[in-house]
Amino acid sequence: MTSDDTPRARAVRAFAERFGAPPDFVARAPGRVNLIGEHTDYNDGFVFPVAIDRAVWIAGRARDDRRVVLHSLDFGDAAEVDLAAPEHRRKHWAEYVAGMAWALAEGGVPTPRGVEGVMAGNVPVGAGLSSSAALELAVARALSWASDRGASWEPARVARIAQRAENAWVGVNSGIMDQMISAAGRAGHALLIDCRSLETRAVPMGREAVVVLDTGTRRGLVDSAYNERRAQCEAAARHFGVRALRDVDLATFERRAGELDDVTRRRARHVITENARTLAAADALAAGDAATAGLLMDESHASLRDDFEVSRRELDVIVEIARAQEGCLGARMTGAGFGGCAVALVAPESAESLASEVASRYEREVGIRPSVYVCTPSEGASVENYQENG
Ligand code: GLA
Repeated sequence: MTSDDTPRARAVRAFAERFGAPPDFVARAPGRVNLIGEHTDYNDGFVFPVAIDRAVWIAGRARDDRRVVLHSLDFGDAAEVDLAAPEHRRKHWAEYVAGMAWALAEGGVPTPRGVEGVMAGNVPVGAGLSSSAALELAVARALSWASDRGASWEPARVARIAQRAENAWVGVNSGIMDQMISAAGRAGHALLIDCRSLETRAVPMGREAVVVLDTGTRRGLVDSAYNERRAQCEAAARHFGVRALRDVDLATFERRAGELDDVTRRRARHVITENARTLAAADALAAGDAATAGLLMDESHASLRDDFEVSRRELDVIVEIARAQEGCLGARMTGAGFGGCAVALVAPESAESLASEVASRYEREVGIRPSVYVCTPSEGASVENYQENG
């Protein structure tokens, strides 16, 4: 027995057992946690996520035909997708593989060869840490290796293609954040992303710890509530006569807010103020002012709870408990909301004690054992030549 139980090592071992040889490549794509900039991406706005040190790995090799054959260690089954004629596999992880096959073809990215291999990961599913984007990008990375050893990989282009797979194949109307950070994350940095141009600015995260606080609740009915928020934002943008709420500044909004009904006004106010907070938080962290960034995260949570109405009791509780701990600079729900995770920015020397204190207090109050961990900002999707690197 080897002691290396990482998903990467498990995938490599399982590949060798199944195929009788080591893999040719190992592809990897991370999940993400968003520091600030929530429900702004589909308004052409700004987001500020980090790629986390949890990911999906594929140990594989190229095939001579155009089939993708993947064995999932986590789900305990296999799936096969024909790159030339992908078919739907609704409510199965293979739906994302098929979606990528379809979207790559539609986006004009050649996939001359398929792959076969074993997949394993440690991004919790449904927790709001983008396990589906990680799967999509890992598949894209594996196919890029089979095509030209990854030489023509363009993170932003592939992120758009993966978003298209979600929107038009899987049927979730999500924005670009999750795919973009999984494709383009930078180790040790958070990435300010302009979701209109896809320009990025990497901000070093060396001095503060990022703590993920998983409430253990999972979101229900999220797709319909998400799509409803999106429609409300689009209605507000139409009212202002602009392409997206990104184009409305705070002064204009305040002058004309009375023209909107109460719900639309609050939805728009969240997005417009959140864009400003996100830019300010990135500037503050870049200038070494983590205290200001933390306060902006607190304000973001209040806005998501009261104006955008995507929080829930357990998220509010875990955020409150985190904020009461020494060394906590700010905390907020992260991701789409309705369940899943919060994130806290913490002075590094306090991170471990905050994590254990939040876990026990939250469990006492809510009755669910949460999963709380300090995470390391990681590199975006990658692929390595296993035969050379081992
Ligand atoms: C989900 C979506 C993202 C983004 C967030 C909310 O994670 O996939 O595109 O809209 O919700 O910020």
